[in-house]
Amino acid sequence: MNWFVNDRFGMFVHWGPYSLAARHEWVKTREKLTDAQYQPYVDHFSPDLYDPAAWARTAKAAGMRYAVLTTKHHDGFCLWDSELTDYKARRDLVEPFVAACRAEGLRVGFYHSLIDWHHPEFPVDGTHPLRDARPPGERDIAVYRRYLHGQVRELLTRYGTIDYLFFDFSYAGRSEWWGGKGPEDWGSKELLAMVRDLQPDILVNDRLGIPGDFVTPEQYQPSAPMPGLWEACQTLNGSWGYDRDNLDYKSADLLVRMLVDGVSKGGNLLLNVGPDGRGRIDPHATALLAEIGGWMELHERSVRGCGPAEYAAPADCRYTRRGDRLYLHLFSWPLRHVHLPGLAGKVRYAQLLNDASEIRFVRTDPDQEAQNTRMGGQEPGTLTLELPVRRPDVLVPVVELFLM
Ligand code: GLC
Repeated sequence: MNWFVNDRFGMFVHWGPYSLAARHEWVKTREKLTDAQYQPYVDHFSPDLYDPAAWARTAKAAGMRYAVLTTKHHDGFCLWDSELTDYKARRDLVEPFVAACRAEGLRVGFYHSLIDWHHPEFPVDGTHPLRDARPPGERDIAVYRRYLHGQVRELLTRYGTIDYLFFDFSYAGRSEWWGGKGPEDWGSKELLAMVRDLQPDILVNDRLGIPGDFVTPEQYQPSAPMPGLWEACQTLNGSWGYDRDNLDYKSADLLVRMLVDGVSKGGNLLLNVGPDGRGRIDPHATALLAEIGGWMELHERSVRGCGPAEYAAPADCRYTRRGDRLYLHLFSWPLRHVHLPGLAGKVRYAQLLNDASEIRFVRTDPDQEAQNTRMGGQEPGTLTLELPVRRPDVLVPVVELFLM
């Protein structure tokens, strides 16, 4: 767990035949496509520009310290050379990904879909592309379960140490999806036991429908710390898979604020890229990650190994803490002063983190009356900092406070 809490920031990679359709990873079910109608994407999935070393370099330069690849998504297509199916890439695309991550010193994670819209024994339900077609004949989930367990065993015995596993997803009781599927369907208890047996140090998420090692809020920012370890998984533009015409990209400063906000509440950020059908991370995504990397270059220690602080941050600010360092992240830049309740007498030195320039304390008597240019006193115990008028030219300015 230590690496997870230390690293705080990872790359999620959604990639497969849906990247060729280029209109969201759920395209098969959104458009109720049959296997035959989906087959052209499988037939044309030959990513000639696939360069996992470049992906790993992009992740590392952005400040990410682990990377998680979709080995199989809901469409059932496998990116590795599974012996249990022919519905797979022409060559093993997982092995070079793992090797590239290791070469960059990144931890390795796998995403694996529990849902499978291609397997003939996966019972059709409300999520399934064939929900209206209602194909005849019984489907035996037990057969599918054996397949699922068999493939997970392949993934956890072929590529050395795997640090992280993201199963996706359980939806038992969801009436809109015909009651959904959950732990019994997947054989989650046995599956998790097998995973822990094969990879004793692996971290497994919470989507088997039974407790895992960390919880996974998705596409929203928790408004308060979540119980135990947690990691928010987020997209750059709302879609996980490459979505050509979707330009609803988040800004780099919003993405950094999401990272910082999460760490201030004890959580990680898993930020997604959806490479295109040729295997390239698109220029918009690459540029955003580079911007984030520029900020991380100067501010990494305000995130890495940091967690929540016991002090209440001023409005539009967040605190992250590691040992005797407290980091004040300013989401909006105030005029000249910021008041920090409860920190008077607790801080021995302060500086802007981007350039190590000193930030000085303003001493005011709490009983001091405001008068013209003289501001009034603050609540007893408040430490007031003197800020430059000009906001530092970084995505999120940070003041590093050295605690007594
Ligand atoms: C949701 C989406 C799925 C995506 C996953 C990522 O479950 O349905 O497409 O892969 O989130 O967290």
